[in-house]
Amino acid sequence: MISFNSKTNTFRLDTPGSTYAIFINERGYIGHAYYGSKIGDDDVSYLTRNKEYGFSDNAIFREKGSFLDFFPQELPTDGLGDYRESALAVCDAEGHNAIELKYKSHKISAGAQPLPGLPAVFGSADECSVLDLTATDDILDAEVTIIYTVFEKLDAIVRSVKIKNNGSKTLFLKKALSLALDIDDDGFDVITLHGSWARERHIDRRPVHMGKQGVCSNRGETSHQEHPFLALLDHKADWDSGRVYGINFIYSGNFIADVQKNQFNNVRAVMGINPENFSWKLEPGCDFYTPQAVLVYSDNGLNGMSHTFHDLYREHLIRSPYKKSPRPILINNWEATYFNFDTDKLIDIAREASKDGIEMLVMDDGWFGHRSFDDSSLGDWIVNENKIKGGLKHLVDEVNKLGMKFGIWFEPEMISPDSDLYRAHPDWAIQIPGREPGMSRQQLVLDITRKEVEDYTYESVAKILRSANIEYVKWDMNRQLTDIGSVQLPADQLGEFYHRYVLAVYRLQERLITEFPKLLLENCSGGGARFDPGMFFYSPQIWCSDDTDAIERLAIQEGTALVYPLSTMGAHVSVCPNHACGRVTPFKTRGYVALSGTFGYELDITKLPAEERAMIPGQVALYKKFSDLVRNGDYSRIASYSENNEYDCWASIAKDKSKALVTFVQVLNHPNYKTRFIKIAGLKPEAKYRVTWPDEDQTKFQPMELSGLTLAKAGIPLRRDWGDFQAQLIYIEEC
Ligand code: DGJ
Repeated sequence: MISFNSKTNTFRLDTPGSTYAIFINERGYIGHAYYGSKIGDDDVSYLTRNKEYGFSDNAIFREKGSFLDFFPQELPTDGLGDYRESALAVCDAEGHNAIELKYKSHKISAGAQPLPGLPAVFGSADECSVLDLTATDDILDAEVTIIYTVFEKLDAIVRSVKIKNNGSKTLFLKKALSLALDIDDDGFDVITLHGSWARERHIDRRPVHMGKQGVCSNRGETSHQEHPFLALLDHKADWDSGRVYGINFIYSGNFIADVQKNQFNNVRAVMGINPENFSWKLEPGCDFYTPQAVLVYSDNGLNGMSHTFHDLYREHLIRSPYKKSPRPILINNWEATYFNFDTDKLIDIAREASKDGIEMLVMDDGWFGHRSFDDSSLGDWIVNENKIKGGLKHLVDEVNKLGMKFGIWFEPEMISPDSDLYRAHPDWAIQIPGREPGMSRQQLVLDITRKEVEDYTYESVAKILRSANIEYVKWDMNRQLTDIGSVQLPADQLGEFYHRYVLAVYRLQERLITEFPKLLLENCSGGGARFDPGMFFYSPQIWCSDDTDAIERLAIQEGTALVYPLSTMGAHVSVCPNHACGRVTPFKTRGYVALSGTFGYELDITKLPAEERAMIPGQVALYKKFSDLVRNGDYSRIASYSENNEYDCWASIAKDKSKALVTFVQVLNHPNYKTRFIKIAGLKPEAKYRVTWPDEDQTKFQPMELSGLTLAKAGIPLRRDWGDFQAQLIYIEEC
């Protein structure tokens, strides 16, 4: 709910458990008054520190410089005395860097608004309200609107910023972030997500220290390495208790997420498009919208924060028709065959897979041009009939006859120097004239910001999809951007390139899901380098990582699930020794870990050892039984192997608290320890639950009946005499 009190000049943005307050001071500055647990209906203007004393007493009435350096602002600007990290920097036609925002007007409306060309949360008039808070700089003739979307039933507030040039001279945006949050430091820790190829989104938690700390990407995509997420939390906050502020960015390109603790022990967090290599030429009459940043507040620790992010993305960002429904259990041939496959091999895999209840065959990289390794043919999206004998339609029809769906891999944004496309259009690759562009995975990136390249790219994918009954696409992107040059952008607009690139990716995927509305689209980027909420707007699931090892996946999926619903995490069972790290784990453990994602297989089923093959129908049955609970329940972390170096445990709890599925992995076993008790919070304290081990020998793992209170406070017993990498599923259902 959004309200404005004209007597105190304050806005309140209230959600069920949080209050966010804004104060317009007597000079028109838009101050941040409060964000945190819900508070009483008081005049909160005093919280902005509007009148402070110190080196320059009562600064607002004497010196703007001193004032701006401590005043908490909703959208801090550059160049006039706030020396902290700014959110908006504008350069005028004469080269002056300064912008000063003073309140002009506001509008409160019901229902979320779309953002032109960008992914955006949606919600009806009953579900959310919007505050458009407009300020102006009269010298520049610039108008800036901060757009807040406030959810009625979720402790989430989404922000974006619109900057409009109302004047007659060109302006240059040097920095246009989406979010700034000024709060007192009460001894915060900061959490960010870090990684690399095959080990994405590991959680890193450390105290907030003086000065600046943060994460960013300048790679043209969100990246394996760092992630557009940041949490500020009480030093003592844990999974289920303590204050947490979670910040996330609905964007798939270069970003920054910074925290700065200043001279007065205040903390400013900012998030937005990375200003490095960014600028935007704003001609008279034109406007620019920043992507949305999401703020989530939790009084119930990290699990409370995760629940809100998951609900927000499942209900208000993912649009796919698959968002609520089970995903087909797929088998992908990448780790099974790599580039070495043909129609017969794929049909063999599909035939065997169909016998075990697997529902879709996905043909991965290598079916087009003359590609038999990663050194050619990207851009030549023509079926290689030497491999796909009889053509694509024949293959798809044969797979359909087995009762299975068919899916296909593309890497639409890329071009191989060894391709007919490159030979015809060498200038379509992103490059700086006169400089040999850097290769990565032996490929270059198409300049899809050019209309003719975008259209070619779209048609390449669409014509294949029109040619056969293809029900799934894996959209891959296997290198990051370098050598930014453009044949169409003049020098004073080259800083727009990275953002224009992301907008072109969004346009391409929008066209795809518009023409093929039933398509199941899975995004991917060399594993999980473009696993971000921007992509959820187009695809309900994203390949999490090229590391399919069950133990490596624990940290990857833990970090991913901290922010994103389990229904979005692409997860497959593969063979051992694992191709990424060489580890050998039980087939059962691989299955349980993948069951917490979209679930599928990535192996040559025709060569699988008999005892492993025999377990597939059972795993398929588990997926069928528990997928609804996993996709739609509340995910709660119970224990983290990354923290305790011994075991991992998490649960999916039904929204009505009638059932829960707990997954436990004993990563490292030590001899002669006795029973471990795992406490399951979040069920109904007074209700009685039946606790079973659905996939175990029932004579050894006998069911128990326990109340929700006992489950939360005393826990369930887990024996410790297994061995490394063993796992268990525990099902808890109200009696
Ligand atoms: C990277 C993806 O993450 C893999 O799953 C696979 O599709 C390869 N690319 C194919 O080149």
